[in-house]
Amino acid sequence: MASEQFVEVKRKKGRSNRHQERSYQQPLCSLNSASSADSVDVDISRIVRRIRELRDEVYAKEMSQKVIEDVETWLINLDASMNTKPDKKGQSDKEKLTNSLDGCEKHDSECTQKPEICCGENGSLFDVDIVCYGLGCVTTCPIAREQTALLLELKERQCAESSCYCYDPHFKLSDCHILRQFGSDVIDRNEEGKRPITRPTIFFMPHCGKALYNNLLWANWETDELSKLFIIGNSFSAMNERLPQRIFEKEYHFIFKILPLVLEEPFLLTPHTETAFSDTSCHWIPQLNLVSKPVDFWTRPEPSYSEEDVEIICKNDKS
Ligand SMILES: C[S@@+](CC[C@H](N)C(=O)[O-])C[C@H]1O[C@@H](n2cnc3c(N)ncnc32)[C@H](O)[C@@H]1O
Repeated sequence: MASEQFVEVKRKKGRSNRHQERSYQQPLCSLNSASSADSVDVDISRIVRRIRELRDEVYAKEMSQKVIEDVETWLINLDASMNTKPDKKGQSDKEKLTNSLDGCEKHDSECTQKPEICCGENGSLFDVDIVCYGLGCVTTCPIAREQTALLLELKERQCAESSCYCYDPHFKLSDCHILRQFGSDVIDRNEEGKRPITRPTIFFMPHCGKALYNNLLWANWETDELSKLFIIGNSFSAMNERLPQRIFEKEYHFIFKILPLVLEEPFLLTPHTETAFSDTSCHWIPQLNLVSKPVDFWTRPEPSYSEEDVEIICKNDKS
């Protein structure tokens, strides 16, 4: 598919606002300047359809409920512990979150959540950002499509109006296009996972390299920020079991240090989901676990990895 080609995506009729696909007409090459053209023609609408089917047939039924419960637990805990210092608009973190959890009257009958957590502005359950790293090529990889189906379920059904940003250095233009159809933005540069957050954010990072989780923790190495992270990714406790302590501590220092403070809930897997989400857990860090840490806990030398580290593609890598 030529990068200059224009693709028109039509708005579907009769869908409620929260399920609308984006309508736009723009050159694919502007979606993500870092992405390369596909080497073969791709039937985008077939893949989009397949991901929606997977979402409806598997992920909406089997898996998302437990993940949503974990997100609820994290947000309730965050709500309880957030400081009350107001921002420039006079709103405290706690008020912002409380506002985001109010407004049930806007929600529709699909809601199965507890009233105290349901629901955010515009009918969403949670007003959080979602950032997705390391999906791989949605167009060509069945596992990436399975993972996109759960991402879509989280985004559309549960956090309908949340902003969702995706990045993988291996994305082709068709991958960007598919994700845009689901209302996600494609990040236009390699952040190496070093994204500082200002609001509660779900990081969806299935089967990513340890360096990416380590960088994310480094970038948010403060009490408030760490407690606003919800990380869906490879089990931190399994990393601890598999790696020699000396290497874990040296190479993935921030995962190692946070490990005793993290709450980890493994995914409940079924035969349908065990490949795409093997070794996957939800992780979050209650603020209470962080407040009494000594000063030296908070030193944060920027991580660096050897060039042979195959787990992360860095900004300057040619690959
Ligand atoms: C082991 S693969 C997992 C792919 C897919 N999620 C799966 O489960 O099969 C790790 C992914 O992380 C991506 N990755 C590497 N460096 C990255 C970076 N700096 N930012 C985002 N993703 C990155 C790779 O391109 C690759 O797609």
